[in-house]
Amino acid sequence: MNRFSAERPLRPRRSCLAVPGSNPRFLEKAQQLAADQVFLDLEDACAPLAKPEARHTIVKFLNEGDWGTKTRVVRVNDWTTEWTYRDVVTVVEGAGANLDCIMLPKVQDAQQIVALDLLLTQIEKTMGFEAGRIGIEAQIENAAGLVNVDAIAAASPRLETIVFGPADFMASINMRTLVVGEQPPGYPADAYHYILMRILMAARMHGLQAIDGPYLQIRNVDGFREVAGRAAALGYDGKWVLHPGQVEAANEVFSPSQEDFDHAELILDAYAWHTSDAGGRKGSAMLGDEMIDEASRKMALVVSGKGRAAGM
Ligand code: GLV
Ligand code: MG
Repeated sequence: MNRFSAERPLRPRRSCLAVPGSNPRFLEKAQQLAADQVFLDLEDACAPLAKPEARHTIVKFLNEGDWGTKTRVVRVNDWTTEWTYRDVVTVVEGAGANLDCIMLPKVQDAQQIVALDLLLTQIEKTMGFEAGRIGIEAQIENAAGLVNVDAIAAASPRLETIVFGPADFMASINMRTLVVGEQPPGYPADAYHYILMRILMAARMHGLQAIDGPYLQIRNVDGFREVAGRAAALGYDGKWVLHPGQVEAANEVFSPSQEDFDHAELILDAYAWHTSDAGGRKGSAMLGDEMIDEASRKMALVVSGKGRAAGM
């Protein structure tokens, strides 16, 4: 576990809903959906000419909207553009008290996270906001980001998640496909396995959440479930959703099944009893046909913890 994790809230992020910051109709509708997180986008879902006005639209919707218990995030533009500092200053000065995290896209190295952390610190001081409350989500979307992901994950105590951005990533490494989230035709195995695991290792090493990016075939909910299921099986905490139809599927896929949750609770109860005085202080024991020990307890805790977070 990292030295920072105890200081940051662990927010549910099974479904992370993308909403263009320039579209008031979508910003209105998003408030009613059952997504764990919303992110109001100033980057690729927002046309360059619409960005200046979208900053103010986002401030208004953060301050006046009813977002319930949702995690409220704004995705700013990346540091290679001319927009980033104004995105951060306008949105955080205007709505910092009603905002949980800034998402930084196309992160290439640790310095880009440090720069955002410093800017947030300045704004918090100037505005009298609670120091360090606003978190950072880092998107990995190119080869530099993936190669440097360990340093990126360690760059700031504000970091909460590492997010895989498959569309930009595939473009940046010249992967031969046009269907975001699906396997490239002609490759017989899982082309995302290495990338997803690399990100997951860096995230877990530093006590952060790992989030899978978008699936663009928004009418194909079965395809979404399958791709989301792969990330969930590896241990990912959630996935982006681009359409109301994907929200429920993500919430389901990233929660344990009732059967797994019940089984995990059974392991925890049985192991607690066997290791107690009454149970003979055993280090390992049988639960039906299954041998359980301390490592089984830890695995059960992961499933049980995700279930409880999902309200089971
Ligand atoms: C998301 O930003 C992506 O590029 O997939
Ligand atoms: Mg992207």
